[in-house]
Amino acid sequence: MQRNTDMEIITVKDKSFKPYISEEDLLASVKKVASKINIDYKGSVPLFLGVLNGSFMFFSDLLKSIDLECTVSFVKLASYEGTNTTGQVNELIGLSESIEGRDIIIVEDIVDTGNTLVKLYDILSAKNPKSIKIATLLYKPEAYKKSHPINYVGLEIPNAFVLGYGLDYDGLGRNLSSIYVLNE
Ligand code: IMP
Repeated sequence: MQRNTDMEIITVKDKSFKPYISEEDLLASVKKVASKINIDYKGSVPLFLGVLNGSFMFFSDLLKSIDLECTVSFVKLASYEGTNTTGQVNELIGLSESIEGRDIIIVEDIVDTGNTLVKLYDILSAKNPKSIKIATLLYKPEAYKKSHPINYVGLEIPNAFVLGYGLDYDGLGRNLSSIYVLNE
């Protein structure tokens, strides 16, 4: 990863990215999401379920502004080809505790087509939680192909590829403290 400090252009492998959302704007939108959740879940003890890898920075900043009694856990969704009859199999990795009767808040970095989210939602629903809601830092409404509501959105963005604050390009760039967009 190379930084050109004069223009703040970042090069990751074969692509260059320009500044898009500042750290200040990100944190302000994260705080707004936290305030809504604090109100909506008053009296409940929700489980915040972070979807790895991309959600780790959002998750951390969000939870610092949550003043509810709550628990946290992290999951990963693995997809692989099953046999001819079963087709694609989705497996949830990391959830060791029971979620039966719990209020679940799924914490995502970004919702693009919504495929990941719906797979995750279906797997979690089968475990009989009391409720499931979704909080995402970024949401691309033009790319979203599902009808499932996204309950808490930090920022809506156009259908462009973004990097930083947990989001990667080919595994790199997750450690950037603000968000960059592909320079085309
Ligand atoms: P979906 O299943 O199409 O909604 O995609 C969700 C996942 O794709 C996210 O959790 C990210 O890992 C990845 N993704 C989608 N858009 C971007 C992007 O603009 N930059 C980096 N990763 C992205």
